[in-house]
Amino acid sequence: MGIENSRILNEDLKERIVTAETAASWIGDGMTLGLSGFTKAGDLKAIPDALVKRAETDPFKVNVFTGASLGSDIDRMFAEADIINKRLPFQADPRMRQGINEGSFHFVDQHLSHTSEMLRQGVLPEVDYAILEAVSIKEDGTIIPTTSVGNSLAFAMHAEHIIVEINEAQPGALEGVHDLYAPAPQGQREPIPLVSPEERIGTEGIQVDPAKIKGIIFTNQLDSPSTVTPPDAETRDIAGHLIDFLKEEVRLGKLPENLVPLQSGIGSVANAVFHGLLDSDFEHLQVYSEVLQDSVIDLLDAGKVDFASGCSVTLSEDKMKQVFSNFEDYRDRVVLRPQEISNHPEIIRRLGLISINTAVEMDIYGNVNSTHVGGTKMMNGIGGSGDFARNSRLGIFVTKSIAKDGDISSIVPFVPHVDHTEHDVDVIVTDQGYADLRGLAPRERAGLIIERCAHPSYREQLHDYFEAALERGGQTPHMLEEALAWHREFETNGSMKKLVKS
Ligand code: COA
Repeated sequence: MGIENSRILNEDLKERIVTAETAASWIGDGMTLGLSGFTKAGDLKAIPDALVKRAETDPFKVNVFTGASLGSDIDRMFAEADIINKRLPFQADPRMRQGINEGSFHFVDQHLSHTSEMLRQGVLPEVDYAILEAVSIKEDGTIIPTTSVGNSLAFAMHAEHIIVEINEAQPGALEGVHDLYAPAPQGQREPIPLVSPEERIGTEGIQVDPAKIKGIIFTNQLDSPSTVTPPDAETRDIAGHLIDFLKEEVRLGKLPENLVPLQSGIGSVANAVFHGLLDSDFEHLQVYSEVLQDSVIDLLDAGKVDFASGCSVTLSEDKMKQVFSNFEDYRDRVVLRPQEISNHPEIIRRLGLISINTAVEMDIYGNVNSTHVGGTKMMNGIGGSGDFARNSRLGIFVTKSIAKDGDISSIVPFVPHVDHTEHDVDVIVTDQGYADLRGLAPRERAGLIIERCAHPSYREQLHDYFEAALERGGQTPHMLEEALAWHREFETNGSMKKLVKS
C-alpha cells in the first residue's frame, strides 16, 4: 500500500497532493500564516524551505504565527530571507533574536494561552493559510497532529485555507495521544470539563471541513533535537534547594506526599530541576505542563511520574529514538493538548499546580524578568511562564545566582523589565538557596532574598543598596537614580562587579 493510501484515508484528498514549491506559490505578500510547531516539535519540514527559495526571486513579507519556537532552523531561515513582517507568540533562535533586536521586523511577545483567544475574538489578523504537520488525515478530513498540538487547532478553525504536511518519519503510533478541545466564544462558554491531568475532553484529531484542505505535501524528516545542556553543579544545587522546599511543605502538611501536578518551563535550568526529582523520594507525581522535555520521559521511565499532560514533546536525539521507536509504551501515560488548554488559567487554578519557570533575573522585592537582557534586548519571550505563574498554587522561579562568569548578578536591586510582578512570584530558588515570599511584605522579602538567594560576591552590595533605600522610606524602598546602575555598569564596563569594587 502506497504511503498516501495509509496516511490519507479520504479519497478526494488524495487528489490534492502537491509539491512544496506549488504550495509556496499560493502564499501572497502581506498574508498571515499559522504554522504548526511548538518548541521544535511538530513543525514543518518542506514549505519553509520552499518559501525561502521563492523569496530569492520573488520577495514578499508575511506574518508568521506559531505555537512557540520552531526547530529545523525555520526561524533562522525566515530571518535571513527577510520574509517576516510580524512574528508571534514566541521564538528562541539567535538569528531571529538579532532581527527582532535590530528592529528588522515586529515581534509580539505573548502569553501562550492568549493567541487562540485573540484569533477567536478577531483581534489578530485573519489567518490566510494554516500550514500544519500531520501524521495522517482520516476519512472525514480529521487531521492527526504529530509531536505538538500548539495552536494548530485554532489556526485550522480560523484559516481560510489549510495545507497539510504529512510526515512519514513521525510514527503512526502517535495517533491517539492528542486531545483536541476548543472552548466556545467568551460569553457562551461552559466551564472546561477537565479536572485531572489524565482526563480527555476532546477529539483525537483536528476536525476540519475537507474542502478547506487545499494541498497536501509528503515529508520524511524527524523533528530537530532539543539542545538542552545536561545538569551542572549550579543547576543540581537549584534542584536540591527546590526539593528541600517541597519536602518541607509536605512535612508541614501544606502539600500532599505526591505533591500536586507539576509544570516546568523550558531550557537547561528547568530540565535539570525536573531531573533532580529522579533522585528524590517523591512518587506518583503528575505533570501538567507545556513542553515535555527529556526529564519528563526519564521520570516516566523511572516510575516517578504516573502521567504527563503537555502540548508538545521536545526531546534530545537519543531520547527521540528511544521514545518514538516504542511510543506504544508511553501512549497511555501521555496526552498532548492545544496550548490554550495546557496553559489555561481556569485549569491551572483548578488543578492547583506547582509551576517552575526560569528567570533571566529577579530583584530584591521578587519581581522577575524572564525576557529582556539588559532591559531592552529580547531573549526568547515570556512563553507560558505568565500563564502558569499567576494562576498556580505555587509560582516558583529559578535562576543561577550569577551569569557570565560572575560578571552579572541575577539578583539585582531593580529589574529593568518586569514579566512577573512581585504579586505573581511565590518562591524563588537559586544555587544559593530558596526564599519563600508568600505572605511577606516587600521590606521582609528583600533581606530574605539577598541572604538566601544572592551570590556571596554580591550580597554585601545588595544589602548596602537596600539599607540606603530604606532611609528614603516607602512601601517598596528604592533609590531610583541608582536602581539600574548595576545594569548600566555591565553595559559600559562589562561587569557589575566593577561597581562593587569602586
Ligand atoms: N543577565 C543576562 N544574561 C543572562 C542572565 C542575566 N541575569 N542570566 C542568564 N543569562 C544568559 C546566560 O548567560 C545564557 O547566555 P548564553 O546563551 O550566551 O550562554 C542565556 O542567558 C541562557 O541562560 P541559561 O542559564 O543557559 O538558562 P536556560 O537555558 O535555562 O534559559 C531563559 C533561561 C530565562 C532564557 C529561558 O528559560 C526562557 O526563555 N524563559 C522564558 C520563557 C519561559 O519561561 N517559558 C516557560 C514556559 S515553557
